[in-house]
Amino acid sequence: TILVLDFGGQYNQLIARRVRELHVYCEMHPFSISIEAIKQMNPKGIIFTGGPSSVYADKAPQVDPAIYELGIPIFGICYGMQLMAHQLGGTVIGAEQREYGKSDLAVLASEGPFIGLSGDVQCWMSHGDKVAALPAGFEVIGKTAHAPVAAMGNKERRFYAVQFHPEVRHTPQGLEMLKRFLYDICGCTGEWTMANFVEEQVAAIREQAGDGHVLCALSGGVDSSVAALMVHRAVGDRLTCVYVDHGFMRLNESARIVKTFREELGMNLIAVDASEQFLGKLAGVTDPETKRKIIGTEFIRVFEAEAAKIGQVDFLVQGTLYPDVVESGTSTAAVIKSHHNVGGLPEDMKFQLIEPLRTLFKDEVREAGLQLGLPEDIVWRQPFPGPGLAIRILGEVTKENLDILRHADDIVFQEIKKSGLYRQIWQSFVVLPTNVRSVGVMGDERTYAFPAVLRAVTSDDAMTADWARLPYDLIESISSRIVNEVRGINRVVYDVTSKPPGTIEWE
Ligand code: XMP
Repeated sequence: TILVLDFGGQYNQLIARRVRELHVYCEMHPFSISIEAIKQMNPKGIIFTGGPSSVYADKAPQVDPAIYELGIPIFGICYGMQLMAHQLGGTVIGAEQREYGKSDLAVLASEGPFIGLSGDVQCWMSHGDKVAALPAGFEVIGKTAHAPVAAMGNKERRFYAVQFHPEVRHTPQGLEMLKRFLYDICGCTGEWTMANFVEEQVAAIREQAGDGHVLCALSGGVDSSVAALMVHRAVGDRLTCVYVDHGFMRLNESARIVKTFREELGMNLIAVDASEQFLGKLAGVTDPETKRKIIGTEFIRVFEAEAAKIGQVDFLVQGTLYPDVVESGTSTAAVIKSHHNVGGLPEDMKFQLIEPLRTLFKDEVREAGLQLGLPEDIVWRQPFPGPGLAIRILGEVTKENLDILRHADDIVFQEIKKSGLYRQIWQSFVVLPTNVRSVGVMGDERTYAFPAVLRAVTSDDAMTADWARLPYDLIESISSRIVNEVRGINRVVYDVTSKPPGTIEWE
């Protein structure tokens, strides 16, 4: 085990993720964990994370100094480095200038995390304080223009620390540095896998749930599917999944979800067809945020009604991912869209939460899904917004418009699948602006119909996105199929806007 001590920095989970990527098991705990608990865990190494505080501030997070006497290697990152310097007798001062962004690090000694490195390497800095004087027994192993002590080490005690962030991609050799610390300094062997993670999570869920009953809102997306399946592994039939069909799903999707979970995976699944009800509530509504609110509220209403029929429920599964945890925890940003999970459930529900994916990123969730035997078409499903096609019809959502959009959307889905690009593309879909019509000619007839907006983007996390450079031939076949096969659409346009300044969805 590697112990990651959390001092509150924004990249901290990323550190845990990188350690796992190197196939080493780790646990992240608050910095205040007791020295007895650490001894019991007997980790092969300890990582101090970054954090927002200044070590010399009042109530700055500190570790029990006894930690330095355990004989366990320690790697300090950013605040972790300052803390180590401060507690071991060095000096930390406020820098005149905050250093933020890319920096060139000169490696002064190929030791510890820098084994195998020399010369200049790029690193990512984000700090206001810096180490001004080394603690006894340490030497400088790296410097940058603004930080004369950008990295330090005490070979004998196996303590190393860096001012920059090796866990972010902007430090290209960062993963290698962590690897050297874990493998060479701590003696880890790198045998831990996602299979282990799944097993551990299943055991943890089993323990948390005891003999309680668990409820899950299944959307058919990767996250809720993987979360549900993991919980099913742990508690079996004591898990009930509720799938609310709001009628805004893609073609045949609802049937497929029911079949997969009920028949193929043998789970308890209640499927509610509430499409008429949702459509009724949206009659005459055109404003995007109003649509979202109505759908969100209605979703909760239907879900609660189903939950009430089940009887005693003690736990609720949520497929919260790590980026959601970060985003909701730190964001004070303006509301661009009132996003994120129509499954955002009522606050007054008295359940305890089970969130098996809280520490995972999307690609790790997919890996876990494969581990659990989730069918590949669900594992690789592109993200789909909670309100579904309702926010891809610009203007009023009617049954007719939904049918038009669903048909066009299915053609895009088929063609993108056929091209082999489905997995590389983050999302590909159609937007139907029902307030626009254009003239066309088909056969000898004049047409006057809606355009279809084709949208395809590449992205890692939906925070930023780029329009996908789809091959012209693919755009061509999508365009001609849609115009030929879908009544109500006579023109196809391609959206070439990135995010920012655009968003992925049009509403
Ligand atoms: P935008 O359009 O803001 O979308 O670039 C970013 C990601 O979020 C999805 N999205 C939603 N997901 N409820 C959701 O659950 C919503 O209301 C919603 N709106 C957008 C979008 O598909 C993209 O993946």
